[in-house]
Amino acid sequence: MTTVLPNLPLSTLTETRSPNQQLLPLTAKINDADRLEIGGCDVVELVKQYGSPLYIVDEVTLRTACQQYRDAFKHYYKGASQVLYASKAWNCLAICAIAASEGLGIDVVSGGELYTAIKAGVKPELLYLHGNNKSLDELEYALNAGCTVVADNWWELHTLNRLATDFGIPPQIMLRITPGIECHTHEYIRTGHLDSKFGFDPNDIDAVLEFVAKSQLNCIGLHAHIGSQIFELQPHKDIGQVMVQWFKSARNEYGLHLTELNIGGGLGIRYTESDDPPTIEAWVQAVCDGVTAAFESHGLPLPKLLCEPGRSLVGTSCITAYTIGSSKTVPGVRTYICVDGGMSDNPRPITYQAQYRAVVANRMTANADLLVTVAGKHCESGDILLKDIYLPQTEPGDVLVVSATGAYNYSMASNYNRLPKIAAVLVQDREANLILKRETYQDLIRQDCLPSRLKF
Ligand code: LLP
Repeated sequence: MTTVLPNLPLSTLTETRSPNQQLLPLTAKINDADRLEIGGCDVVELVKQYGSPLYIVDEVTLRTACQQYRDAFKHYYKGASQVLYASKAWNCLAICAIAASEGLGIDVVSGGELYTAIKAGVKPELLYLHGNNKSLDELEYALNAGCTVVADNWWELHTLNRLATDFGIPPQIMLRITPGIECHTHEYIRTGHLDSKFGFDPNDIDAVLEFVAKSQLNCIGLHAHIGSQIFELQPHKDIGQVMVQWFKSARNEYGLHLTELNIGGGLGIRYTESDDPPTIEAWVQAVCDGVTAAFESHGLPLPKLLCEPGRSLVGTSCITAYTIGSSKTVPGVRTYICVDGGMSDNPRPITYQAQYRAVVANRMTANADLLVTVAGKHCESGDILLKDIYLPQTEPGDVLVVSATGAYNYSMASNYNRLPKIAAVLVQDREANLILKRETYQDLIRQDCLPSRLKF
């Protein structure tokens, strides 16, 4: 048994144990059959048993990431803290249950995510509802469930205040503010710059605080999120300094004693060798130092500090196993290797030009010396999962594993071309448990209606 994965640079696998810096899950090994093993389970055998393509989630990696966030806050922050899992990265019963069992709360952005988290057994006081256009139904559902609502806009504030009368108890809210902090990431996943659809514009904050002070709302704190897949520490270090001014004016000018600060998520992960994100610990330290310095310099008590990472908790815990089928060589141009999934199970390459890495799970020590492009099976030329990567010689039936697919893959999956959504298994200690069943053709038409006049 060896932990060396020659298709990938060894250094990227062994040099750190921060899960967000691993290309493959922490338990990845090559077994004596020259195959990839995750959580003590042979990936090729998992595909035989559960079908292909298959998401394979390593419980150790996921739990380690949760623990590293939690422990780092305890170590670097003198006040109270709470880590939330931004479940938009992957919302399903099992993942929510694992995060909750590690003491994390859950950030949800829709009634559907809230429903799932509640069904997973998450306590209402650890649930936070986000969203820039929550429906009335979603707001009522959240208040009934006892979840905190992160108010994003004026319409919501007015609606929540009206609902307060019906509910008889003041809704517990936080206010999301656009902090005006720029960061380097894909334009679609930046949220904290001023031209963003999320949160209150800083120019509105005085009016918002005044409204809240006179309202029936129980406002416990402020929230900001600057973006996703961020490798710099400074923007997150700066959040404390930006937010403290509003804690101060809330207290001094409007008599609002806000006690919680949520600084969002955003820490990046390693998708390819050239990605170099900071460790979870370094990120938490930067955030804690920034907030502590800002609040102490203004003579304010330290707030309860919340953060809500998604990608860096679940991203590298999962791999996707595909089966290789056809191939095509365009002479002098490229060789396409085609797999049995694609943009329906991983829409990130076509949406954000995201890059990934892959290994051939049934010939792990073969030399990766062929330059190929891995295409999905969808009727769309852009359905390319990996462009110009080196793989060993492959043949139909080989199992191709794409790494770091835990975040925003299943959660953004679709049924494009009516492909059934793929299954997911959770592995640990040589045991595999199904956490998402593979959809069937019957599932695909379950919600279809055929009006009787169309039947023939
Ligand atoms: N909190 C809020 C308010 C957010 O909007 C997000 C992500 C997070 C937390 C979690 O951020 P993370 O730690 O995962 O970076 N679909 C895109 C990512 C969209 C991120 C949306 N918001 C992708 O596949 O890259």
